Amino acid sequence: MDKIVEIKALSKAYTQGHEQTLVLEELDFHISRGEFVSIVGPSGSGKSTFLNIVGLLDDVYSGEILLFGRRLEDLDEDQKALLRLKNIGFVFQFDSLLPEFTVAENIEMPARVLGSGGRKARELLKRFGLEAIADKFPMEISGGEKQRAAMLRALRNAPALLIADEPTGNLDRHNSGVVLDDLRRAADGGTAVLMVTHNEEAARRADRVLRMNAGRLEAQP
Ligand SMILES: Nc1ncnc2c1ncn2[C@@H]1O[C@H](COP(=O)(O)OP(=O)(O)OP(=O)(O)O)[C@@H](O)[C@H]1O
Ligand SMILES: [Mg+2]
Repeated sequence: MDKIVEIKALSKAYTQGHEQTLVLEELDFHISRGEFVSIVGPSGSGKSTFLNIVGLLDDVYSGEILLFGRRLEDLDEDQKALLRLKNIGFVFQFDSLLPEFTVAENIEMPARVLGSGGRKARELLKRFGLEAIADKFPMEISGGEKQRAAMLRALRNAPALLIADEPTGNLDRHNSGVVLDDLRRAADGGTAVLMVTHNEEAARRADRVLRMNAGRLEAQP
């Protein structure tokens, strides 16, 4: 199963009062194992709306979505929740670690929810060159390190799909580069990485750049 996500004719409208606003319109999309895809586009064009649907955080839409070859509409709520927990990792722009836990403990959190144990957090920290912050608390590390730790937490359960909404939005150039290197490493390890960014330079680090335009995703040369 090479295709991680396959979407056909996805439409989504928000209703406010009597007004209906179509945000996504007959959008098609696909991403494969190990592929790094970025999405750019103006503010308000529907990028986060799209990520929320792909990440199973929003199920109000029309169209067909296949995740790991399974049609979403054939799955019940429990199956979707398990699919999300096991196979999808999320990173957001202002991601927050739990302040009362160390970095390693924060990274272990999703595994505890799943009931699987182990010392995977330390392995991940080592692989990404962050062993030094393993036993530090969030208030003892930098913003860039926090963002990277949040990314490792998203990678803890070895998700097939990593969804990142502006993961470098509040980082300087150097730290953005480091986070993008991390995303590339995750993709090289087989994870499909789907990133939204306002930064064209960051976008170009992906294998494929798509632009959100009038409710659809278009390939950007
Ligand atoms: N829960 C909601 N209810 C109603 N309208 C919404 C809701 N969420 C988003 N919208 C509207 O849908 C449109 C798309 O929003 P979205 O957050 O997907 O944009 P975006 O491309 O992620 O923008 P940005 O780059 O600023 O993050 C916007 O016009 C927004 O105001
Ligand atoms: Mg957004």
